[in-house]
Amino acid sequence: MFGRRTAEADAPPPAATQAAKPKASVAAPKPVPAAPGAPAKKPASGSPPPRVHAVAKAQPSEIGGRTDEYFQTKTTIFNALIDTIDLSQLAQLDTASAAEEIRDIVNEIISIKNVQMSIAEQEALLQDICNDVLGYGPLEPLLARDDIADIMVNGANRVFIEVGGKIQLTNVRFRDNAQLMNICQRIVSQVGRRVDEASPICDARLPDGSRVNVIAPPLSIDGAALTIRKFKKDKLRIADLVRFGSISPEGAKVLEVIGACRINTLISGGTGSGKTTLLNCMTGFIEHDERVITCEDAAELQLQQPHVVRLETRPPNLEGQGEVTMRDLVKNCLRMRPERIIVGEVRGPEAFDLLQAMNTGHDGSMGTLHANSPREALQRVESMITMGGYNLPSKTIREMIVGSIDVVIQAARLRDGSRRITHITEVLGTEGDTIITQDLFVYEVTGEDENGKLVGRHRSTGIARPAFWDRAKYYGMEEALAEALDSAAE
Ligand SMILES: Nc1ncnc2c1ncn2[C@@H]1O[C@H](COP(=O)(O)OP(=O)(O)OP(=O)(O)O)[C@@H](O)[C@H]1O
Ligand SMILES: [Mg+2]
Repeated sequence: MFGRRTAEADAPPPAATQAAKPKASVAAPKPVPAAPGAPAKKPASGSPPPRVHAVAKAQPSEIGGRTDEYFQTKTTIFNALIDTIDLSQLAQLDTASAAEEIRDIVNEIISIKNVQMSIAEQEALLQDICNDVLGYGPLEPLLARDDIADIMVNGANRVFIEVGGKIQLTNVRFRDNAQLMNICQRIVSQVGRRVDEASPICDARLPDGSRVNVIAPPLSIDGAALTIRKFKKDKLRIADLVRFGSISPEGAKVLEVIGACRINTLISGGTGSGKTTLLNCMTGFIEHDERVITCEDAAELQLQQPHVVRLETRPPNLEGQGEVTMRDLVKNCLRMRPERIIVGEVRGPEAFDLLQAMNTGHDGSMGTLHANSPREALQRVESMITMGGYNLPSKTIREMIVGSIDVVIQAARLRDGSRRITHITEVLGTEGDTIITQDLFVYEVTGEDENGKLVGRHRSTGIARPAFWDRAKYYGMEEALAEALDSAAE
C-alpha cells in the first residue's frame, strides 16, 4: 500500500546512528538550599554523615533495559522502514491502522535482514518504532510512568527525570537533534503552535494535561531543551502530604481551618516545591455550595466542588495576536459573581487585581507565587504591583497587601529532595512602613539520618490566638484550631 516516500525530513542522517552514550558521571544537581528559617543544615550533634544523597547517580537509570546494540539495531531497522513507507500516506490513517501497518513492515524487515532478537526484544522494538513514527518517540516510556514528576531533555543525548524529589540521568536518548526537534514540533503543533528558529520558545500541553516548555536552537545551544511537568492523574491530597511528612497532622488541621474559614491565602515556594499541589489540597476545604473561579496558565488544578468555572490564559497566535493574560482573566472573573478566586500562579500585574478581589468580599481567595520565604512573597507582591505600572506610594501598596492577604504558606523542596511546608505565617499589619508577620507553624530541620534524609519536625510557635481566631470562631472551628495549635506547641 505504501510507495517509497519522497520527503526525507524524518530520516535520520547516517552519522547519527550511534548516538553518543551519555557520560558516566554527571554533575551533581544543585542542592536546593534548606528552607529559609530552617536553621539546622548540619545534624544537631556529632559529625555530619557524608552527603551521599547530594550526588546524582553515576550510572544513568535504565528505562526499559535498552542497550547500545539495541539502539543500533533499531536505527538500522528504522532507516529501512523510512525507505519503505510513505509517511504522508501513513499520516492519513488512524493511529491503530498506522501502527498495524508499521508493525507488518518492521516484522518483514526483521526477517529479511535476518536480525536475531528475542520475542520480547522484537516487541519492544516494534513499540519503540511506532512511538517514534506516531507518538512522542523515546519519551513514551517516561510519559507512561506516573511516578515521574518532571522530564528534562537537554538535547538529544541527555534526558533527566525527577523521581521522588531527586533528579536522575536516564539512558533514554533521541537519534539526533533533528528527531528531538521533530517531537517538540509534534507536541506544540497540537496546541496550534510552531517551534523553529523564528519562534524558538513555546509553551504547550500534552493531551494528558502535562505542561510542556520548549526552547529550541539557536537559543538553546546544545539542541532543543524540552521540559515536561507531568500531570499527576491522582493528585496528592492533604492526607498524602501528612503521610509523606510534608506537614504534621496538626499543621494539616490548621490548613483546614484556613481553607474552610475563607482566609485569603498566598502559597509561596520555589520551582517544583509543591505550590500547585498544595493549592489543590487547600481547595479541598472549600464548601460545595461556593462558586469558585480558577484562573491558570495551564489548567492543573482539579477541584472537586460542583460549582467551579475554570479559566485558562491564552498565548498570542503566530501573528502575535489574541493573547489573553492572567490579568484579563482575573479582571473578568470579578464580573462573574465569584465567591472565591483561585489564581494558579501570580507573576505579574494581576497581583493588584487579586488583592482587590480579596479586599472586596471574595474571601478565601488563593494564589501561588514564586518566593523563598513568606516575607519575600509579600515583597514580590509589592514589586509586581509596582512593575505593573500602578503609580502608588509603597506605603499604600503595603497597606493594601496587609488588608488583603491573611496568611502565607511556604512550600519548599529541601536538599534531600523531600517537599515540606516550612511556614504557616500570618500577615498582621503594618508598623510604620514595615509589614508585620507572625509565624504560626514552622518546620525545623533537626538533623540527618544515615541515608542522608533530613530529619525535622513541624511545631507551632506557641501563638494560641492567631489573628484569624474570630473568623475561625465565626465558622465554628475555633476549638479545632486551638487544639491543633496547642498540641503542636513545644
Ligand atoms: N508534598 C509533596 N510530597 C511529594 N511530592 C510532592 C509534594 N508536593 C508536590 N509533589 C510533587 O512534586 C511535583 C511538583 O509539584 P507542583 O507542580 O505542585 O510544584 P510547583 O511548585 O507548583 O511547581 P512550578 O513552580 O513548576 O509550578 C509534582 O509531581 C507533585 O506531585
Ligand atoms: Mg505550579
